[in-house]
Amino acid sequence: MKLLGIDVGTGGTRAVAVDESGNVVAAATAEHAPFASPHIGWAEQDPRDWWRATIEAVRHVLARPNVNAGEIACIGFSGQMHGAVLIDESGEVLRPALIWCDQRTDAQCRSLTEKVGAARLIELTSNPALTGFTLPKLLWVQEQEPDVWARVRSVLLPKDYIRLRLTGERATDVADASGTLLFDVAQRRWSTPMLAAAEIDQNYLPTVFESPEITGFVSAEGSLATGLREGTPVVAGAGDQAAGAVGMGIVRPGAVSATIGTSGVVFAATDHPALDKRGRVHTFCHAVPGRWHVMGVTQAAGLSLRWFRDRFGVVHPEGLKQQKDPYDLLCAEAGDAPPGSDGVLWAPYLMGERTPHLDPHARAALVGLAASHTRAHIVRAILEGVAFSLRDTLTIFAEMNVPVETIRLGGGGARAPLWRQIQADVYGRAVEILAAEEGAAYGAALLAGVGGGVWSSVDEACGETIRIATRVEPQSEVSAFMNARYAMFRELYPALRSLSDKDA
Ligand code: XUL
Repeated sequence: MKLLGIDVGTGGTRAVAVDESGNVVAAATAEHAPFASPHIGWAEQDPRDWWRATIEAVRHVLARPNVNAGEIACIGFSGQMHGAVLIDESGEVLRPALIWCDQRTDAQCRSLTEKVGAARLIELTSNPALTGFTLPKLLWVQEQEPDVWARVRSVLLPKDYIRLRLTGERATDVADASGTLLFDVAQRRWSTPMLAAAEIDQNYLPTVFESPEITGFVSAEGSLATGLREGTPVVAGAGDQAAGAVGMGIVRPGAVSATIGTSGVVFAATDHPALDKRGRVHTFCHAVPGRWHVMGVTQAAGLSLRWFRDRFGVVHPEGLKQQKDPYDLLCAEAGDAPPGSDGVLWAPYLMGERTPHLDPHARAALVGLAASHTRAHIVRAILEGVAFSLRDTLTIFAEMNVPVETIRLGGGGARAPLWRQIQADVYGRAVEILAAEEGAAYGAALLAGVGGGVWSSVDEACGETIRIATRVEPQSEVSAFMNARYAMFRELYPALRSLSDKDA
């Protein structure tokens, strides 16, 4: 018996087949076309391209000799959150989806906050109106493209569009629904008062399930397209952050992860909807029934390093000859600079910022340069700046009394030994590295395992499959020094804001 997890990400769709002991037996990723940005701050993708990539990734996995469609007991989804997929009467996509990092909805967020009231918004949905969330995107289409809006009959999140194509069902899960601003996170159901305030017909929204619940079965059309067996059950799954957390065993209060992908997320499981009155962290349902999570988001975490690599990062020819990963080469180079990067600081606000500033207009900066600084100093400053930014979320968790017992690293930030050590020193705590980290698709497969009866609960699934490989301890003197650097990092944003205010 096997389980299949499908993660509809931003860069690509990944399919992972897992056996009953949680071992990955096959995996494949199919890339998406890069997102289009027809104006500064806009981000759009064609949902049909995600479906094309899903077919490709699933067919790759099914082509492996050790996997056959007949033995897949259950399928789980994970996906990029917050996107708005607009569907007409006949199930056709009406326009490209506005995706999670799209920042065009500042005006809609302001008018919604004015209309509903900032405190009432948090009371109803546990979150403030943020540009990336789904509802402001719907309001933008209502205002700017009324002809398109008039034809909308259904609004889906990205992975749920794939579910529609695979099963014919309109369904979502509580964790992904939490990022729409239309969901009553505390009660785990659509918010009737928010739907009324935003004048959105509830019939446009999918049915909501807990993450391990079965929402439908692979249809004849879905089977024909993907090669999956008709009738295979499909569970709700979860938005990529909650699914990724399940895949890292972050399911009980006290467990915290710090994951550096394109964005950076510090995620804590909680047994109640923990709120920050200022809405600087998101409060969402967890993929574990009866639990919630809080998370802070750095918009440009791995993206900071990628931006440097793409724009300025001439990789050493020797390294290229040895076909080493350019990120590993950059991180190795950063090791030539000392902790604190000899005074260089990086404010990572290349895509505005969510936590803690909630400012889509924030701008990045490299500060403190002198003629003696080298590329190593700059790359190290980027790694440190991203870690400082993630620490901002831990600072807020402390203010909110969210327990932090362990910090588990994920994504690219868990791979490079230097970035692991920088994180341990900046967080001032030991960090754990997993034996195998397979990301959100793996978490989706574990949720499928719970729905399919392999494990009796998400806790059991994690307990039986997730292993810690190593711990990295903070170095006490370096950590004290990085604490002082963090205090300086916190002064960067207010100083930069006074400049960007002048620019606006
Ligand atoms: C979470 C978020 C991103 C996207 C993209 O709030 O915006 O993690 O889900 O992966």
